[in-house]
Amino acid sequence: MFIKLILFFLLSQTLRSSSQILTYNGFNPPTDISLQGLATVTPNGLLKLTNTTVQKTGHAFYTKPIRFKDSPNATVSSFSTTFVFAIYSQIPTLSGHGIAFVISPSPALPYALPSQYIGLFNNSNNGNDTNHVFAVEFDTIQSNEFGDPNDNHVGIDINGLRSVKYSTAGYWNENNKFQNLNLISRKLMQVWINYDKLSNKIDVTMSPYGSDKPSKPLITYVTDLSPVLLQDMYVGFASATGSVISEHYIAGWSFRLNGEAPSLTSSNLPKLPRFEPRRISDFYKIGMPLISLFLIFSVISLAFYVARRRKKFEEELDDWETEFGKNRFRFKELYHATKGFKEKDLLGSGGFGRVYRGILPTTKIEVAVKRVSHDSKQGMKEFVAEIVSTGRMSHRNLVPLLGYCRRRGELLLVYDYMPNGSLDKYLYNNPERTLDWKQRSKIVKGVASGLFYLHEEWEQVVIHRDVKASNVLLDADFNGRLGDFGLARLYDHGSDPQTTHVVGTLGYLAPEHSRTGRATTATDVYAFGAFLLEVVSGRRPIELHSESDDTFLLVEWVFGLWLRGNIMEAKDPNLGCDGYDLEEVEMVLKLGLLCSHSDPLARPSMRLVLQYLRGDMSLPELTPLDLSAGNGMNLGGREGFSGIAMSYSSSVFNGFTGVSSIADSLLSGGR
Ligand SMILES: Nc1ncnc2c1ncn2[C@@H]1O[C@H](COP(=O)(O)OP(=O)(O)OP(=O)(O)O)[C@@H](O)[C@H]1O
Ligand SMILES: *[C@@H]1O[C@H](CO)[C@@H](O)[C@H](O)[C@H]1NC(C)=O
Ligand SMILES: *[C@@H]1O[C@H](CO)[C@@H](O)[C@H](O)[C@H]1NC(C)=O
Ligand SMILES: *[C@@H]1O[C@H](CO)[C@@H](O)[C@H](O)[C@H]1NC(C)=O
Ligand SMILES: *[C@@H]1O[C@H](CO)[C@@H](O)[C@H](O)[C@H]1NC(C)=O
Repeated sequence: MFIKLILFFLLSQTLRSSSQILTYNGFNPPTDISLQGLATVTPNGLLKLTNTTVQKTGHAFYTKPIRFKDSPNATVSSFSTTFVFAIYSQIPTLSGHGIAFVISPSPALPYALPSQYIGLFNNSNNGNDTNHVFAVEFDTIQSNEFGDPNDNHVGIDINGLRSVKYSTAGYWNENNKFQNLNLISRKLMQVWINYDKLSNKIDVTMSPYGSDKPSKPLITYVTDLSPVLLQDMYVGFASATGSVISEHYIAGWSFRLNGEAPSLTSSNLPKLPRFEPRRISDFYKIGMPLISLFLIFSVISLAFYVARRRKKFEEELDDWETEFGKNRFRFKELYHATKGFKEKDLLGSGGFGRVYRGILPTTKIEVAVKRVSHDSKQGMKEFVAEIVSTGRMSHRNLVPLLGYCRRRGELLLVYDYMPNGSLDKYLYNNPERTLDWKQRSKIVKGVASGLFYLHEEWEQVVIHRDVKASNVLLDADFNGRLGDFGLARLYDHGSDPQTTHVVGTLGYLAPEHSRTGRATTATDVYAFGAFLLEVVSGRRPIELHSESDDTFLLVEWVFGLWLRGNIMEAKDPNLGCDGYDLEEVEMVLKLGLLCSHSDPLARPSMRLVLQYLRGDMSLPELTPLDLSAGNGMNLGGREGFSGIAMSYSSSVFNGFTGVSSIADSLLSGGR
């Protein structure tokens, strides 16, 4: 009876001491859990033993001691534990280190090493029986120093990392067939560890999470744990990272002395994170193709950009041009100078092309860039040679040509910029801008001097071919400067010699020029004559009145006034000149008529014209009859000029108003 009582007492004692049960379906909040090292609890309740920091340990212990023995010398109680874990490796084919369930004399393993030591031991205490540590390792690295069979195994460790028994991770299915489990698969796996104090049998069983506990354990090992475990022990988990980083998660855990560990409630277990490994796989699956696509796209667009740029700035350069190197501009330079040939910087457009204002990027010189379209390659060499040679001309009454650039179908000429624009803008009764006689006289003398330079002072005779008010540009001091010289030649060269086109401007064309198509210094003088009359009278050489079908010819009109004895009526009312000037005005009008003589031989040379204008020589006393006599006509002067009217037959020029360059019409017909 007494013995029975004692037995009962002992039994109840045993029951009392064995009442230690712990269950964690998720670890949030981490009640009675001590987290050490890298270990944390994620907001959704996962016990995260390690993060991606390398060569560190992570521990989690139940903070209260567990009484495994009733007395220090008693046999150890039976125990059972189950937990659900997963290992995430950053690199799917390569793992970091493992995870271990541990029973230890203290709730911390501060001296334990990471890496292959899995946070359980260090190199000096490994294997020492004084450790009193029991562990089940889930090892993902093969450490030959501890006799590991492979990099995916489960082992029972007693006081050291050299497992007393181990097996490749996996389970025996219901057909008694072994199924491998990949520890680093990032999938949840469940583990059961049971110790039976009567049989001294340790069973370790595992399976994919969600399936039933396999009936056949993975490892069975028989040993009495009584010498290993002390009376009071702490239970928990250890894990470690090495150089290859991996994360270790425990989703749920239960433990019980002397009985089966409570099963975990699957619905309460926290979900595994998706982010870390997803980020890697997303990077490979989506990121990489996206990045390569982006790279390919960038390369293609860069190639397009370069090609377009090439095309945009493409130039033509022939061997013969090397000698003109210093006169040649890069198209790119001109493009930048004019800010891409913007409409805003367009100075005007004439018969040969559009003129843009610009500033040369290197020298900051203000320039006017003329874009002349030109299809024919033939004759280009001579033309460019001439342009370059005229570029060497230097005369204060010529617009300086700085250089050229040649592209497909296009020639660009670079001139000094003339701040006051072209003379035509100040004529034709323009009340906003007008010039008094002093200014006009200076311009006329200047232009005469420039034309004389072309005809006689330059090393070869240069015929301007397009003398007219719009080709006279005014510099800052209102000096008249001839522009566009030699440009008309481009079209003469380019065209068939059999059908020489007449290039020039209606109203300035000498009658014999339109007949024979030959330009001479005398045809320039003729145009200069028209120019003189234009400047004095402020009227265009030809005005076509479309409504009345009348053609106003300036030469005829002035000549008519002279015949009637009142030539001074021809002067521009805006001249504002005094008595002394009137003489000069009259002289210039008469000189204009003389230069406009229909007989080229009757026209003075530019040398003579210049002398008359400068007053170095006085104009011979002329009567209207003198001019007509010079033409070999006895019917009076008018006939001397009627040729002009006939050569400008209205059938050709019908519909035109005002003076327009016939270069356009002839050229467009010629192409
Ligand atoms: N060097 C320059 N400096 C300032 N403006 C200029 C210069 N060259 C030309 N321009 C301006 O550009 C306009 C167009 O010039 P362009 O010489 O092409 O035409 P145009 O003389 O009227 O006709 P054409 O081409 O038949 O001679 C001129 O009216 C002038 O205002
Ligand atoms: C890992 O956890 C430790 C401790 O919580 C922290 O100091 C460290 O910054 C974490 N490392 C990373 C990479 O998140
Ligand atoms: C336990 O065993 C040791 C030796 O094995 C002995 O010295 C000690 O007295 C025993 N303690 C009790 C309470 O039996
Ligand atoms: C190893 O761990 C033990 C405690 O278990 C400690 O006393 C010892 O100093 C450690 N050795 C090293 C080298 O860290
Ligand atoms: C085991 O550890 C104890 C105490 O730490 C020490 O005295 C003993 O020498 C160690 N044994 C071996 C074999 O290293």
